[in-house]
Amino acid sequence: MAPRSVLPIRVKIVEVGPRDGLQNEKETVPADIKIELVDRLTKAGFPNIEAGSFVSPKWVPQMATSSEVFARIDRKPGVIYSALTPNMKGFEAALAAKADEVVIFGSASEAFSQRNINCSIAESIERFRDVATAAKDHGLRLRASVSCAFGCPYQGEVPVESVADVTQRLRELACDEIDIADTIGVATPGQVHRVMERVITEFPIGQISGHFHDTYGQALANIYACLEVGISIFHSSVAGLGGCPYAKGATGNVATEDVLYLMQGLGIETGIDLDKVVEAGQFISRFLGRKAASRAGNAIAAKWQG
Ligand code: HMG
Ligand code: MG
Repeated sequence: MAPRSVLPIRVKIVEVGPRDGLQNEKETVPADIKIELVDRLTKAGFPNIEAGSFVSPKWVPQMATSSEVFARIDRKPGVIYSALTPNMKGFEAALAAKADEVVIFGSASEAFSQRNINCSIAESIERFRDVATAAKDHGLRLRASVSCAFGCPYQGEVPVESVADVTQRLRELACDEIDIADTIGVATPGQVHRVMERVITEFPIGQISGHFHDTYGQALANIYACLEVGISIFHSSVAGLGGCPYAKGATGNVATEDVLYLMQGLGIETGIDLDKVVEAGQFISRFLGRKAASRAGNAIAAKWQG
């Protein structure tokens, strides 16, 4: 194991529960509930919250209320509220909603690109170019996501060079941050080392994030592997909510409560109040009528009940 001193002393946690977490829920989650969730997360101290997406409501019905969510959340100055925008139509909606950051989402797998956004990787980069230019023109932050960087539900293995290639093409669009995403939660720490070591040769390490789903229970170990490489931005979802509608069988993102507990134990600063996140996790889980998929969150909540 790498010595403790090489790990980052502070990390940025991007809360993606209101978008990546809820997008796959079958029953409609009312805007009021989403708004209360975002407000609770804001109060917990997240510097960045992915609050919705401006995609086709036919493709992802759950996100159809994103404009209302953005309009009615209680924004804290300095917090970045992000929205996914696959094309200019999405960008215009995000701009009208006053999103602080737009997220273009590509893929390292051709097959996933077709299923998720209905075009090839090359076509997607062309669509993103317009969004990127518009984002810069309007002074918005621009983030890009590289899905299926560790495996694809349709094509299986994804070569490290495909991840590097897409990262390079996204870098050319002047992204502020690039997410290396394990959409289906199949990565293991050795693979994470290999992919991240390669990606940091293409894009500044301080602007790369790890986005892990926990399907195979490896997400925390994968985050630790990223810390060893020096990655210091991670995405997570309160109560472990989530799954991608176009990645069958993929479970939620790594639970935020578990990530915060890990960071606390390592003495790594996040600036986030774990207890408030646990409360937010219990709130949304009560609404959804199921137990939170966060081990640390449930353990802490059980202690409160005595
Ligand atoms: P398409 O059917 O090829 O698009 O879909 P189109 O341009 O032909 O338009 C078809 C219809 O959609 C038209 O409406 C458009 O107006 C409408 P109609 O005339 O039929 O009534 N439309 C839109 N409506 C609202 N907002 C828009 C928009 N664009 C077109 N922005 C498209 C292409 C990209 C739109 C579609 O494939 C889509 O919406 N895909 C989104 C899929 C998605 O959201 N997936 C989940 C997020 S990705 C993810 O979770 C992974 C991530 O977490 C990282 C990881 O874990 O890997 C980020
Ligand atoms: Mg995801």
